[in-house]
Amino acid sequence: MFSASLWQLVLVASSFLVVAATNPTRVSRYVEKRNNDGPPSNFVTTENGQFVVNGSAITFIGTNVYWLSVLNADEDVDNVFGNMSAAGINLVRAWAFNDVEAIPENGTWFQLISNGTLSINNGTNGLQKLDKIVQSAQDHGIYLVFSLTNNWNPTISSTVGPFQIASRTNSNSTTLPRNFLSNDYGGMDTYVRQFVKDQQHDQFYTDENIINAFKNYTTQVVSRYVNSPAIMGWELANDPRCNSTLPAGSLCTTTTVTQWHSTLAQHVKSVDPNHLVTSGNQGFFCADCPKLFQKTTPPPPPPPPQTSPAPGQRRRSIPVLTKASLLQEQRDMQKKRKRSADGIRVRGRWVASHTRRQEDVGVGPAFDGSQGVDSEDILSIPQIGFGTFQLFPDQDTYGFDDPSLSPFDNVVQIGTNWIQRQAAAGQRTGKPVSLTGFGLVTQDNAPDFVPFNSSVAPLQSDPVSATSFGVTDDQRDQAYTQWLSTGISGGLSAMLQYQWSQQGLTTQAGTTVSPVQNESGVVPISDTSGVSPNDGYGIQGVGQAEAQGVLQTASQSVARQG
Ligand SMILES: *[C@@H]1O[C@H](CO)[C@@H](O)[C@H](O)[C@H]1NC(C)=O
Ligand SMILES: *[C@@H]1O[C@H](CO)[C@@H](O)[C@H](O)[C@H]1NC(C)=O
Ligand SMILES: *[C@@H]1O[C@H](CO)[C@@H](O)[C@H](O)[C@H]1NC(C)=O
Ligand SMILES: *[C@@H]1O[C@H](CO)[C@@H](O)[C@H](O)[C@H]1NC(C)=O
Ligand SMILES: *[C@@H]1O[C@H](CO)[C@@H](O)[C@H](O)[C@H]1NC(C)=O
Ligand SMILES: *[C@@H]1O[C@H](CO)[C@@H](O)[C@H](O)[C@H]1NC(C)=O
Ligand SMILES: *[C@@H]1O[C@H](CO)[C@@H](O)[C@H](O)[C@H]1NC(C)=O
Ligand SMILES: *[C@@H]1O[C@H](CO)[C@@H](O)[C@H](O)[C@H]1NC(C)=O
Ligand SMILES: *[C@@H]1O[C@H](CO)[C@@H](O)[C@H](O)[C@H]1NC(C)=O
Ligand SMILES: *[C@@H]1O[C@H](CO)[C@@H](O)[C@H](O)[C@H]1NC(C)=O
Repeated sequence: MFSASLWQLVLVASSFLVVAATNPTRVSRYVEKRNNDGPPSNFVTTENGQFVVNGSAITFIGTNVYWLSVLNADEDVDNVFGNMSAAGINLVRAWAFNDVEAIPENGTWFQLISNGTLSINNGTNGLQKLDKIVQSAQDHGIYLVFSLTNNWNPTISSTVGPFQIASRTNSNSTTLPRNFLSNDYGGMDTYVRQFVKDQQHDQFYTDENIINAFKNYTTQVVSRYVNSPAIMGWELANDPRCNSTLPAGSLCTTTTVTQWHSTLAQHVKSVDPNHLVTSGNQGFFCADCPKLFQKTTPPPPPPPPQTSPAPGQRRRSIPVLTKASLLQEQRDMQKKRKRSADGIRVRGRWVASHTRRQEDVGVGPAFDGSQGVDSEDILSIPQIGFGTFQLFPDQDTYGFDDPSLSPFDNVVQIGTNWIQRQAAAGQRTGKPVSLTGFGLVTQDNAPDFVPFNSSVAPLQSDPVSATSFGVTDDQRDQAYTQWLSTGISGGLSAMLQYQWSQQGLTTQAGTTVSPVQNESGVVPISDTSGVSPNDGYGIQGVGQAEAQGVLQTASQSVARQG
């Protein structure tokens, strides 16, 4: 229950925290060329660090629906888009890949990757599923950002006869269907497993055969929608980095991952010059990493404005992120820090644990390049049209705790700071930036929470943690409201909650949306009793209306601004 007036308060309170909004007169170094050969005006382009449609700047408020392609009926797809449209959503991020290593008996699959060979499924349980999504999105006036592969694919699949059996369990140790989890759609490690012998994750970025195979897949998918106005952009990969379930080779660095982005962004742009291309990375910074594309000397100061800026539009230069500035920030925080040790978050309280002290972690994994990601260098690649980052405080760390704040307030504040840092990076580069996924695990969702490098819910075997992990629904809504308003007033161009939930879906045995037995063990007769998968971030059940209301309020606020 989050009222409109509280939203207003947050909006007002956060507006003075953030860097002044993008200066509309600033000329970008990377403005998309818009000439007579350019895409039609209802396609999404960029100008002056903003997305533009029909000649006007647009801010997207949206959500993630990775399971759209596994729905069993076309009406389900239309119902999901109808419900999202009713909630004010105008951008949806979804998976445009579904790799298998053996053809499954039931369900959707797009590409068979087997022993170094590829074959595409363009049938009704193949790419025609994507065609339906694109059509329905267009019918509902919703844009799509399609991800082309995933960093994460921890499934240990076994092949029994002709069928692929996934080892996945939910909180009751029952086997989950294929494609239930976001990391069960194939991805980089599928290519590596099927193409090379001594397997390291980063061979995906460097092995010539794999690069060609992935280029082949992207060509097949991207060329299908070159002329579709429903595509907002192509995301090269979800969360690309050196490591995954397969380990990283010792040679993988940020430049490995950046170089791959450049190669693939050029390829996708050559197949589809009409749509934007982006990374999909988590937004990790590396101030001290060697750069391939980023100009490390700051650009010359812009000419003084002709007229004095409007109040609230105060010009402010965006300092380049350095290791020294990060360490200074950390020392300032440590001064505030009393004797508090690190802890793990349990129902909004900290439980002390002495496994790691913040003093020892340098600038931290979001800033030191240790994941193999330098988001600013990637954003500086000419063919990368906009920036991406993610915000999942239950799984990644994005900054340093302020000991004077409560644990929950720290989660909110660190997220707010992360959003502001990313908006500033966009302004330094002159490109729009999108928060492509943000989410908090709630107490109700904790038993179903499966981290992105896992195929089992870890809390299921620990009933005590399972009942004490996570925030309340109300805290989730407060955090989402704060982050959305910070992003809107700070100049982010898109913000997508993770993830949408939907009831009333058509069930089919052996597919992701399977019939569920009720308490008497009988499979319910109704074939529209299906619910969408929940990996711990779904907003179904208790609090669903309120969580959707947060998104709706944000979209109304954006509409008022525009
Ligand atoms: C862009 O213009 C087209 C054609 O007039 C219209 O159908 C569409 O809704 C517009 N899109 C946006 C986001 O304004
Ligand atoms: C929302 O989805 C339900 C099925 O869960 C469907 O009955 C309803 O028509 C949808 N609403 C809209 C506006 O599309
Ligand atoms: C994979 O392909 C290679 C060469 O094409 C072949 O020699 C090998 O037997 C195949 N392996 C399997 C398991 O099919
Ligand atoms: C590219 O994909 C097509 C369609 O699946 C397939 O026929 C072809 O063999 C692939 N090429 C390579 C080099 O894998
Ligand atoms: C699927 O691909 C095959 C091989 O390229 C082609 O012959 C066939 O017409 C395609 N079918 C559809 C429905 O697109
Ligand atoms: C797990 O089992 C309990 C008790 O049988 C049931 O209430 C709950 O809904 C089940 N959870 C899932 C995710 O199936
Ligand atoms: C992912 O999980 C696997 C298996 O548990 C582990 O070996 C690997 O180190 C993990 N990778 C990351 C990046 O967490
Ligand atoms: C791989 O992940 C581990 C921790 O999971 C990290 O210490 C290491 O730096 C990572 N390596 C690379 C090359 O990203
Ligand atoms: C495939 O679906 C059929 C019926 O729809 C079901 O009986 C069978 O168990 C399913 N196969 C798998 C591997 O789930
Ligand atoms: C279980 O489903 C069957 C078939 O739809 C129905 O007859 C029965 O009443 C249901 N039982 C419960 C406890 O909901």
